[in-house]
Amino acid sequence: MLGQFKKDYVALNLPNAGVDANSSRGWPKKSLWRWWNQLSRFQRSVVYVLTLAACLTVLYFLPGAHAIWNPGSGKLNTALDSNYITPPLTFFFPKKAENSLDKEEPAEENYVHEEIYNKKPVQDTGDMGLNGNAVTNAVGQIHSPPREGVKFSGPTNERQSAVIAAFKHAWKGYKKYAWGHDHLKPITGTFHDWFSLGLTIVDALDTIYIMGLTEEFAEAREWVDTSLHFDVNRDVNLFEVTIRVLGSLLSSYHLSGDKMFLDKAVDLGTRLLPCFNSDSGVPYSDVNLATRKAHSPKWSPDSSTSEVTTIQLEFRDLSRCTGDPKFEDSAAKVSLHVHGLEKSEGLVPIFINANTGHFRSYSTITLGARGDSYYEYLLKQWIQTGQTIDYLRDDFMEAISGVMKHLTRRTAQNKYLFIGELLAGGRDFKPKMDHLACYLPGTLALGVHNGLPQEHMLLAEELMITCYQMYAQQPTFLAPEITYFNIQEGTTGDMSVKTNDAHNLLRPEFVESLWYMYQITGNQTYQQWGWQIFQAFEKYTKVANGYTSIGNVRNPVNTRPRDMMESFFLGETLKYLYLLFSDDPHVLSLDKYVLNSEAHPLPIYDT
Ligand SMILES: *[C@@H]1O[C@H](CO)[C@@H](O)[C@H](O)[C@H]1NC(C)=O
Repeated sequence: MLGQFKKDYVALNLPNAGVDANSSRGWPKKSLWRWWNQLSRFQRSVVYVLTLAACLTVLYFLPGAHAIWNPGSGKLNTALDSNYITPPLTFFFPKKAENSLDKEEPAEENYVHEEIYNKKPVQDTGDMGLNGNAVTNAVGQIHSPPREGVKFSGPTNERQSAVIAAFKHAWKGYKKYAWGHDHLKPITGTFHDWFSLGLTIVDALDTIYIMGLTEEFAEAREWVDTSLHFDVNRDVNLFEVTIRVLGSLLSSYHLSGDKMFLDKAVDLGTRLLPCFNSDSGVPYSDVNLATRKAHSPKWSPDSSTSEVTTIQLEFRDLSRCTGDPKFEDSAAKVSLHVHGLEKSEGLVPIFINANTGHFRSYSTITLGARGDSYYEYLLKQWIQTGQTIDYLRDDFMEAISGVMKHLTRRTAQNKYLFIGELLAGGRDFKPKMDHLACYLPGTLALGVHNGLPQEHMLLAEELMITCYQMYAQQPTFLAPEITYFNIQEGTTGDMSVKTNDAHNLLRPEFVESLWYMYQITGNQTYQQWGWQIFQAFEKYTKVANGYTSIGNVRNPVNTRPRDMMESFFLGETLKYLYLLFSDDPHVLSLDKYVLNSEAHPLPIYDT
């Protein structure tokens, strides 16, 4: 099946292959690269030494040059670093000078040339500076020339400035009490570690970049460069680390053009790969980054369906960036495998066994936890690959029909449309909706933007109203983690919340949908709603040293703060709010980027 898949895949490229070959862009660089790559390692070393000697000679005779040499760090700080100070409201990172002396050349035999890896992202790279002109040398090794960063203008209005102020407040507390740890506990002024990968710094990298916060980006980059090590003897969750860490490293690479991020991504991606060594190819949920041993979760023999199907954007991008197909191949195979499994009208149970490759029958069907992003990545993978992999779109379309038919109901009183869950293999309907499921209207709108039926937009608009009500009906104006809907005719009240479900974790899904809906429809109501929610976060979750999850959205005088600021608050929630309030709704264009499940933008390719 995989062979068949790949064959289709390559064939689909062929019409475009000539276009790239004829592109005149990057030709001078190409021949230089080719010349360079044809040198032996010894010849390259000679060139390095001569270049270094020449540079040192020049530096030595330059007036005032001695300050440039920093004996303490043993590093030659290039003059480029001083360019970190940029004029206000523009954001530009210089190309990083690559320190090739201490970098091993990748083994050439690891890089198998494949036509699809010589593809450029669809965007015209004129202003975006993405890796549009990757070139291939005689042995098929791919090189992206050094790249310039994408420019963002910084805040353009008061709402955006308010979001930046919130970000800086959170960042300050994190820096003071939790720097280098995964999460800030803002009330006790301590920290929480989950994978010990500095999650908050890594997740926030591209948010910082998009906000144009030069100083913060420099310190975060420095930490990633010097202190983010993946050689840690600890089990991590494949899905979480892929969407939060791998995704952010890749998007930071694409936005800033700084190859250090890609090098880190390659190291991490390589350590995650053993997850795929199961009998079925469906990945194990956990892996030890140091021993590289993968296994199922401790509490169950099964992996979550959404987890094994929400790693493909990142692994594919890693392959496209490096020219090494093994990442994309492993992850794409999982999607194809799940495609081949029997489903009920496109809907999937939430557990899948890595050894047998089968769904656990009778497990719940939901667009909330453990199901949600399976549907999201069907659409987004289709977009990422230039709408060339038909089965992804078809499965998405079928699933949305299944959702409309089997999962949607209306409340008795005000006829709000919501998405419920099917239990026991589809026998019982439960009128329960996770806040997580509020990502769906944004994803539906993204599909319509890419040519899917207008009918999906009607569903999206209705779900937006329901999700908005989840916020608006609470006295704190913050939605609970889970809402139950009232479908009994003759009763009053549309929704209710159980005590155990009344928490708000600063989650992004609804503001994510607001941003998509605003960008695609231009309807300012969505900005207005976002502003109301932002103010509720300010009022009920802001504490002296950051922002905290709360335990009870139903009681404004006792919100039961939980003393936890998860990395997605900086990585996603504040990013989407900042983008939502932009005067230019297309500041991060949906035709150039596809955002992963953790709001990290990755380039759209044309195949
Ligand atoms: C904008 O969206 C709101 C909420 O769905 C809706 O009530 C309103 O009619 C929309 N406005 C326009 C101009 O479409």
